Amino acid sequence: MSGNWKMNHDHHQAISTVQRLIFRLRPEDYRVADVCIHPPFTDLRSVQVVLDNDDPQLMLGAQHCYWEESGAFTGEVSAAMLAKLGVTYVIAGHSERRQLFGDTDEMVARRVRAILANGMTPILCVGETGEERDQGWTLERIRDQVKGSLDGCTADQVGSMVVAYEPIWAIGTGRTATPDDAQAGAHAVRAEVEARFGPEAASTVRIQYGGSVNPANARQLMSHPDVDGVLVGGASLDADSFAAIVASLVQE
Ligand code: 13P
Repeated sequence: MSGNWKMNHDHHQAISTVQRLIFRLRPEDYRVADVCIHPPFTDLRSVQVVLDNDDPQLMLGAQHCYWEESGAFTGEVSAAMLAKLGVTYVIAGHSERRQLFGDTDEMVARRVRAILANGMTPILCVGETGEERDQGWTLERIRDQVKGSLDGCTADQVGSMVVAYEPIWAIGTGRTATPDDAQAGAHAVRAEVEARFGPEAASTVRIQYGGSVNPANARQLMSHPDVDGVLVGGASLDADSFAAIVASLVQE
């Protein structure tokens, strides 16, 4: 269960949000889920200190990284630097990075390998645009992105990863995919992982749905077998709503 804050919450807002979230999350949530928040880079150190002191079960995530370890790469932050900060999960290839900042599958694959090499878990994002969906290219697009973005990874590595199926037309639009759409996309991810890395990797890779998830629809979206969790944007900015989404995974 991942909360991607995107470019929201300065470090003061981050501290109060995470404190409220810690207060809201319950032991039974942690029994069924890995829960992670992904604040902007400038918040990571402040949030890390809060988590270390108050709730080591809530995990720290980042939204992006560069693959080189250090050097003349103005503005970039390396996977090695994130690992030093106690980051566990790093998002790679989010559609906003692909669409607004020119990330290609090849660049995403380099990020994924750097995240793994530094002992962290990538959350690889894939998903089709509305136009691709209208043309009937959804499954092909997902397969291509999974193939290209996992280039150079081993079956063991892929089996330990998270892949998020985020249809671009559902991100930040309030137009959520149906549970059947989420299942179809997640299934395409798992099938492609199986074809390239074998049944073991396909059975252990964790697959999320992302795109306009909220407390009212989260449970339904995770009701099909290939959807293991959710990657939440807007609704993760508020601690109460993200905690309610996490709680929706717990069986009554
Ligand atoms: P929203 O939940 O705001 O649609 O964002 C989804 C997303 O992009 C998470 O990474």
